[in-house]
Amino acid sequence: MSFLQLIEVHNGLNEMFLQHQELLLRFELGRAASRLNEYEIELKAHMKVEEELLMPVYRRAGRIEGGPPEFFTGEHERMLTLLGKFQMAIGDLKPGQSDLPRRIIRIFDEEAVFKSLCEHHEARERNIFFPALDRVTEEDERRELVARSLAANPAIRGNFESLTDAGAK
Ligand SMILES: [Fe+2]
Ligand SMILES: [Fe+2]
Repeated sequence: MSFLQLIEVHNGLNEMFLQHQELLLRFELGRAASRLNEYEIELKAHMKVEEELLMPVYRRAGRIEGGPPEFFTGEHERMLTLLGKFQMAIGDLKPGQSDLPRRIIRIFDEEAVFKSLCEHHEARERNIFFPALDRVTEEDERRELVARSLAANPAIRGNFESLTDAGAK
């Protein structure tokens, strides 16, 4: 049992974001917007778990180079700010606009910046945050915290169930 299991949540989130981009690419504006809103709900639920449930446990490890708590929370904040901008830009899209394709290209360009921020953030969690959490917890506590963390994202739960099944066999 390891906190690295939470990478499944990251994968599920990345998949949702890609679905949003696919819809935008197909000019399905309403669906692209709703998928992005659903993504935001899941992302915020995951961040809440990391900040409120896991961060106090992480602090037991003391100061870690490249991983002070404010790096993680600062990146969360930046991700949410960028997401808000995409939601605004998508809200301004209308089916008949003559410059619609270019507006969408502009959104993709900005979303590419967001995606690299997410990648960077995920790498920091995979390399620093989750391994430190593994070090400062005993098996029982770890099991409980991982289960509670996964439970915060029921919408991407399908992935976890197959993961748990695979682990049980
Ligand atoms: Fe995370
Ligand atoms: Fe995070």
